[in-house]
Amino acid sequence: MPSAIICKDLVVQRGTNLILKDLSLTIESGQILGLLGPSGSGKTTLMRSIAGLQKIKSGEISVLGMKPGTAALREKIAYSTQTASVYSDLTCQENLRYFASLFSHNEKTVDEILEEVDLIAVRNQVAASLSGGELSRLALATTLVGSPEILILDEPTVGLDPVLRIQLWELFNKLAAQGKTMLVSSHVMAEAEYCHGLALMRSGRILAHGTSAELREQTGKEKMEEVFISLVKGP
Ligand SMILES: Nc1ncnc2c1ncn2[C@@H]1O[C@H](COP(=O)(O)OP(=O)(O)OP(=O)(O)O)[C@@H](O)[C@H]1O
Ligand SMILES: [Mg+2]
Repeated sequence: MPSAIICKDLVVQRGTNLILKDLSLTIESGQILGLLGPSGSGKTTLMRSIAGLQKIKSGEISVLGMKPGTAALREKIAYSTQTASVYSDLTCQENLRYFASLFSHNEKTVDEILEEVDLIAVRNQVAASLSGGELSRLALATTLVGSPEILILDEPTVGLDPVLRIQLWELFNKLAAQGKTMLVSSHVMAEAEYCHGLALMRSGRILAHGTSAELREQTGKEKMEEVFISLVKGP
């Protein structure tokens, strides 16, 4: 199967700042790629670029063989921004019905999606009244509307306690097992364990790309924080 996402020599400038500097990255179909890196390293900028929302200075991006922003891609790629973008005065069900109305084709019903993210019990609660974990799952649910093949999730686990974080990662793995390709960013290095592949980012560049086992072997370090520091400092 061809790679789902290919970025080649990507250069992105925002304002006068050069944000992505000759960045190349490939994500295989059905894989979860964890995008890890410190604040300001360019994770959101890379995600916006892949989602077709960011002007590119040079380089190439191919998503399912198409250019980001192509009309045919619109229903195949879902992007959840860093701040949950749901309507706080609508219930879970109403939020999803609204998002579903924007698509010509929906693979699953609203209730099937609510079931999938375990929100059936609170489906009639307005988003403003949800707990942090429920709100994160509702944000995820909005990306499952339509029939996306690619999910881009910008720090979906931020602010969640470790138990809720693990639950959400289990859900991501379930979605990947259904064939969805996922790019998920995080600050939390420990979340690396739940990804098929990892891309460690720093200052607009990919420092390293591989499985957590490969990166451990490469650096001789056990903890992901230590792996990252070792890659930053060099041998
Ligand atoms: N409109 C803009 N004009 C100039 N610089 C910008 C603009 N938007 C973002 N930047 C800069 O681009 C850099 C990368 O930002 P980006 O949001 O991609 O980082 P990030 O890795 O997602 O960070 P975080 O983990 O904090 O979300 C930052 O230094 C930021 O200040
Ligand atoms: Mg960001």
